[in-house]
Amino acid sequence: MTEIAPSILSADFSKLGEEVKKISNCNNVNYLHLDVMDGNFVPNITIGPDVIKSIRKESDLIFDTHLMINNPENHIKAFVDAGSDIITIHYEATTHIDSVLTQIKSLDKKAGISIVPSTNENVLDYILDKVDLILVMTVNPGFGGQKFLESQIEKIRNIRQKIDNSGKDILLQVDGGINDKTAKISVEAGADILVSGSYIFNHDNYQEKINKLI
Ligand code: DX5
Ligand code: ZN
Repeated sequence: MTEIAPSILSADFSKLGEEVKKISNCNNVNYLHLDVMDGNFVPNITIGPDVIKSIRKESDLIFDTHLMINNPENHIKAFVDAGSDIITIHYEATTHIDSVLTQIKSLDKKAGISIVPSTNENVLDYILDKVDLILVMTVNPGFGGQKFLESQIEKIRNIRQKIDNSGKDILLQVDGGINDKTAKISVEAGADILVSGSYIFNHDNYQEKINKLI
């Protein structure tokens, strides 16, 4: 069964609490995807731990925090304290990936690793024993509403194979440009979780859109 992680990046921030409640009450939503951007690793700036903390009380969903920030090691504890259940860092954002993943696990949270479209999936080989989730970016991170990069399908397939060969319990998440068509392609390639922002939030009936993704 495909799992859905709506990204609040495309929600109406003037009523964020209501938006979080509304999406949390939808069926077949498993996670709340929280896109954190620092204006440095990516060109855009979004939310930090205080915003996550303030919406934590509005939702029982699994808080899936996607850190698009440089040197995430300096901020892991703040995002754990804010209520994150999964923390995903970027392979490209710091040198000592293995030790940051260990830091996340030592705080009893699930650790995710993400790679941007130009990064080869083989960089994951020596950290597979440290991760609970692998996030394949199917757009260049920074903004919602971009077009899905078909070049990443092969990568999704290859990572699916790596996970299956490892025998480990690792979730494969795909993020960027997900709609009813690219959802199908991604799941066929091996995705377990689909992140979706603008496809869900740019319409009034969120449930109708979610139903088309699963
Ligand atoms: C992009 C973010 C995504 C984004 C997805 O940098 O990591 O999570 O919100 O938005 P859509 O679904 O609109 O591509
Ligand atoms: Zn994301």
